[in-house]
Amino acid sequence: MSFESLMRPQKVLLGVGGGIAAYKSAELVRRLQDRGCSVRCALSRSASAFIPPLTLEVLTGKPVVQQEYLTATGSGEELHITAAQWADVLCFAPATAHLLARLALGLADDFLTTTALAFPGPVLVAPAMHEEMWAKEAVQNNVARLADRGVIFIGPEVGPLASGEIGVGRMSHPLTIVEAVASQAPGLSPSPEASTKTDLAGRTVLISAGPTREPLDPVRYLGNRSSGKMGFSLAAAAARRGARVVLVAGPVALETPPGVERHDVTTALEMESVLARWAGEADLIVMTAAVADFRPKRVAAQKIKKGQGVPVLELVPNPDLLSGMATTAPRALRVGFAAETENVEENAQAKLERKGAHMIVANDVGRSDIGFRSDENEVTVYRSRGPSVFLARRSKNEIADHLMDLFSEELHHRDHRPADTAD
Ligand SMILES: Cc1cc2nc3c(=O)[nH]c(=O)nc-3n(C[C@H](O)[C@H](O)[C@H](O)COP(=O)(O)O)c2cc1C
Repeated sequence: MSFESLMRPQKVLLGVGGGIAAYKSAELVRRLQDRGCSVRCALSRSASAFIPPLTLEVLTGKPVVQQEYLTATGSGEELHITAAQWADVLCFAPATAHLLARLALGLADDFLTTTALAFPGPVLVAPAMHEEMWAKEAVQNNVARLADRGVIFIGPEVGPLASGEIGVGRMSHPLTIVEAVASQAPGLSPSPEASTKTDLAGRTVLISAGPTREPLDPVRYLGNRSSGKMGFSLAAAAARRGARVVLVAGPVALETPPGVERHDVTTALEMESVLARWAGEADLIVMTAAVADFRPKRVAAQKIKKGQGVPVLELVPNPDLLSGMATTAPRALRVGFAAETENVEENAQAKLERKGAHMIVANDVGRSDIGFRSDENEVTVYRSRGPSVFLARRSKNEIADHLMDLFSEELHHRDHRPADTAD
């Protein structure tokens, strides 16, 4: 990457496949433009059934290439060659199963695939399809073949699918795709989310994230649907602001954010004992983990078999990790998360008092568009000092940065309050 290329806008050719997630390509165009990219769009044969080309044409201010590219334009231009020479990055989002197959085979049966063959630079694909389709050996073979050739995959993610089911196959959030493009095209303007603040330098931040699993026997467990994304976004935000971050994570499939010290655990009791190791050192404790309230009283040594009658489960309560922190980390700013499905405000207020916490971040996990497994969230922060703060729906990364602003402000206030008002 030369100095000159860092100075000019990065050019992204966005190839849109024919899937439901094509409607998100309009937002992706906007988000790429926000970062200073020059974007042009091309649609696969079926994509125009899912997104009107006019929408992308107006957003990009350029014609959208479709199949008619094979008809004479009068310019004598070989559009797939000039487009391949124009672009710095080629990004397919959404990439359907069919589009992946065509790319894997090296077919050149439309503008997108022909351009891909003529393009020498980085190719990114963001697949989107039903979980069953994504799991098929045929699709996975194509994915492996493309990955072997250096194609970069973004997602798919776990989340609500177009069918209404929850599974792997959802296209990654446009912001995640923008970050992946940015990693291949240095010189993009900084993300509006990127923090240049160093207000947490010298602080230790302890965060719990993800679900816990409480074993019933060697193969079964009681668990929940927490993805861990909110906790990981918070860990990333705190590390960017200079904190030493210790992240205690239940079983999740997420990458450790840069600069974060991660400890993986499975059960609530393991989470409690690992958290206890750092609680005394922490200035800020944020408990986002969805810790099981109960665990089976007995864990069967062997797999529980059918034919021995229906087993009756006896449960015992797990320790309340947030309440426990009031004793193990009395000087820390303690923040809990409340994942509620009803009476969100009432339950969050009650939790604030009952658990001796300074703040409770409440979200409504009964909604499928935010909360568990989603890339977005909408929260209200209830505080022992000051009015509640509502953060309207936005990406979990943006929510994390706003929350860190609130936590940082409170830490600053605690540093400067008279000693006799400490709690
Ligand atoms: C309503 C509807 C939704 C679809 N959604 C998807 C999808 O999300 N992912 C996918 O791989 N195919 C999906 N398909 C099938 C594709 O449209 C079809 O395989 C098409 O040939 C895609 O090829 P292309 O992306 O190369 O144009 C859908 C089809 C219909 C009718």
